[in-house]
Amino acid sequence: MKIGIDRINFFTSNQYVDMVELAQARDVDPNKYLIGIGQSKMAVIPATQDVVTLGANAADSLIDDENRDKIDFVIFATESGIDNSKSAGAYISGLLGLSHVRAIEVKQACYGATAAIQLAKGHVALNPVSQVLVIGADIARYGLHTSGEPTQGGGAVAMLITKNPGILELDEESGFITEDTMDFWRPLNHNEALVDGKTSQNVYLDFFNKTWTEYKDKTKLTLSDFKAMLFHLPYTKLGTKGLKEVLLEANEDEKVELTREFEAAKRYNNQVGNLYTGSLYLSFISLLEHSKDLEIGDRVGLYSYGSGAVGEFFSGKLASEFEDRLPQINLESRVQVSVGEYEEIYRSQLKNDGADIELDYKNDHSKFVLTGSKNMQRQYLIQ
Ligand code: HMG
Repeated sequence: MKIGIDRINFFTSNQYVDMVELAQARDVDPNKYLIGIGQSKMAVIPATQDVVTLGANAADSLIDDENRDKIDFVIFATESGIDNSKSAGAYISGLLGLSHVRAIEVKQACYGATAAIQLAKGHVALNPVSQVLVIGADIARYGLHTSGEPTQGGGAVAMLITKNPGILELDEESGFITEDTMDFWRPLNHNEALVDGKTSQNVYLDFFNKTWTEYKDKTKLTLSDFKAMLFHLPYTKLGTKGLKEVLLEANEDEKVELTREFEAAKRYNNQVGNLYTGSLYLSFISLLEHSKDLEIGDRVGLYSYGSGAVGEFFSGKLASEFEDRLPQINLESRVQVSVGEYEEIYRSQLKNDGADIELDYKNDHSKFVLTGSKNMQRQYLIQ
């Protein structure tokens, strides 16, 4: 039985900061951000959006009267969770009107959404009529004026995992690895991630080589079997480095083709920044949207990496509806904010001090918004 991604959608805020302006404000050569890191714009997430609303805004259009009753499992992957006990899956199920479901949250840094897909695949294999809603939603936050700052961003990708999927049929095998590593972490008393940037880059690339090698050993496939190679993209330059490693195995034609497809696959990420769990899947959407010559049956490779650290290389084949089910994404209509406004928005995030607060949400026209906190309970609104 074929199992995979039947529908997919992406959501981010309608605000961004321009990386040239951020570089100038930080007294850095803009080319460091534009070329060295490979980012042009960075999504700025307002206080009125948290992972629950980002996820709900991404998932809403995937649910209709036909599939509502078939969805029996909601797996919410995030490392920007809002509660130490109640899952974001429970919150979002309420907002989306899904009640006959099992709803949970999973966490392993940026790997969470891939873990969720693997769980969903197993669930559908045992329950072929089931549909699983997988959501990867995060807000990537480092400190202001830190080296991690230009690699922030945020947003959510929602996917329906089903049998006979319309978009991507997952292959059976994958290569995977876990090693207890302190490359990036967020202690319980921190709102911002702590990171050893250089170590994180090294582990990312090391795990790519290891998981790709294991995948090839298991499947006997080679690079020639792939139309495109996709990477978790904390910033697009790191994916470029991953691709460079694998291109050592390519002939000249393959180098040209795989590079061209990667250019298509990084375009949205270049405009949004890191969305942690969703980044790899935003890159997949970007490939579908921008590649000129994909065909049904083309195989794509996906490298998922989550600090701490877990890596997995897996693959899938484009399915019969992939062209007709492209999500509607319009990053051009976002509003640019100045660096001063971005810093103000950064500082305005909901505090964990338990105080009642009403947020000003009049400028947030998203369907699902966070309006504040009352009696230590987040207040959500469907507008
Ligand atoms: P940094 O120290 O500010 O930057 O940190 P740098 O000095 O290494 O420079 C970056 C690149 O810009 C270098 O290129 C420079 O040469 C180049 P490279 O050597 O890497 O090829 N450069 C220039 N290029 C053109 N013109 C110039 C110029 N100046 C310099 N004028 C770092 C950069 C990414 C480490 C930092 O931003 C950081 O720590 N970010 C957060 C951590 C991160 O994203 N790590 C990625 C791997 S871990 C991961 O993917 C998991 C993650 O998503 C979290 C999760 O799993 O949950 C992060």
